[in-house]
Amino acid sequence: MNLPSHVKIVDVGPRDGLQNEKQPVPAEVKLGLIERLQAAGLTEIEVTSFVSPKWVPQMGDNAEVMRGVGRLRREAAASRSTGGATIADGQRTRVRYSVLTPNMKGLEAAIAAPRDEWPDEIVVFGAASEAFSQKNINCSIAESIERFWPVVEAAREHGIRVRGAMSCTVGCPYEGEIAPERVERLAGLMKAMGVQHVGVADTIGVGTPVKVQRALEATLKHYAVDDVSGHFHDTYGQALANTLASLELGVWQFDTSSAGLGGCPYAKGATGNVATEDVVYMLHGMGIETGIDLDRLIDAGVYISGALGREPNSRASKAILNKRAG
Ligand code: HMG
Ligand code: MG
Repeated sequence: MNLPSHVKIVDVGPRDGLQNEKQPVPAEVKLGLIERLQAAGLTEIEVTSFVSPKWVPQMGDNAEVMRGVGRLRREAAASRSTGGATIADGQRTRVRYSVLTPNMKGLEAAIAAPRDEWPDEIVVFGAASEAFSQKNINCSIAESIERFWPVVEAAREHGIRVRGAMSCTVGCPYEGEIAPERVERLAGLMKAMGVQHVGVADTIGVGTPVKVQRALEATLKHYAVDDVSGHFHDTYGQALANTLASLELGVWQFDTSSAGLGGCPYAKGATGNVATEDVVYMLHGMGIETGIDLDRLIDAGVYISGALGREPNSRASKAILNKRAG
């Protein structure tokens, strides 16, 4: 098997992980998580979303989170220019921050701030399932594509990278199983719009390795393997197996969530993304490099779980914490 030797992980915990939390999570806590993730070596973090606060109240503090991101960037630039160590080793590396923008209103809000508070990358998010598209973003797939066109164009004109998230690529909470042809069609629409990279999402974590490979192969008809990532929720405990199945196809980029946080408000019963800790433990065990310090990553997960009053939802984290305690 010719597996990738390096994997890039995008931690989506601050966004996908926290968007469904019922208790208010202060922006300072979100930033505390972001800071710890970059200190652990994460170079890409999905930090918030510019969606309607009526739909997703937890992301209503997006501007405040991006102000904090601006502060982190300035601190990092200062530490790079002096060459000195800072509180976070991660600050020596350039971190890419992404946000979700479902429409022009979202993009306009994201770039209304000073330049150093802009996202490096925006995410337009569509679905392979009609019913999920309606529930999640209140429009059909075709309408969503119409809305995304000007968003993609404007983002690229502003020098912002564009990623596309494709929800329900194996199963939908409302429509059941999703055929790969529907994924292929959505990937083609994303490509035509100028979306530079797409994430193949198993929104409700029902996928198993072969089905996930079919969804990835459908996407690979339009995108090169370097422009495709896996985004697997772990509802049925299949996400690690699905990650391995993706690696077998040469896919080397994954969205994961610190401490296994999360779920989508429009996919009832679906749990969070696979825990970043579990994926990193697996990859390192396979000799695949991630640039992430697992111990520091575990500390980040402990921090956010503590703030939420629970234990990290990661088997690797639990095992390593038990070992530390012993
Ligand atoms: P809509 O109601 O159809 O929008 O919502 P509208 O254009 O008719 O506007 C209605 C109201 O919303 C207006 O305000 C707008 O100003 C406001 P009002 O006049 O009533 O006071 N509005 C906005 N406010 C702030 N930011 C905006 C915005 N747009 C309109 N960008 C909309 C359409 C998409 C906005 C809505 O359906 C929405 O916000 N949905 C939330 C979607 C979401 O965040 N879902 C979770 C993230 S996706 C996910 O988790 C999946 C992923 O992880 C991959 C996977 O796992 O599958 C990515
Ligand atoms: Mg998701």
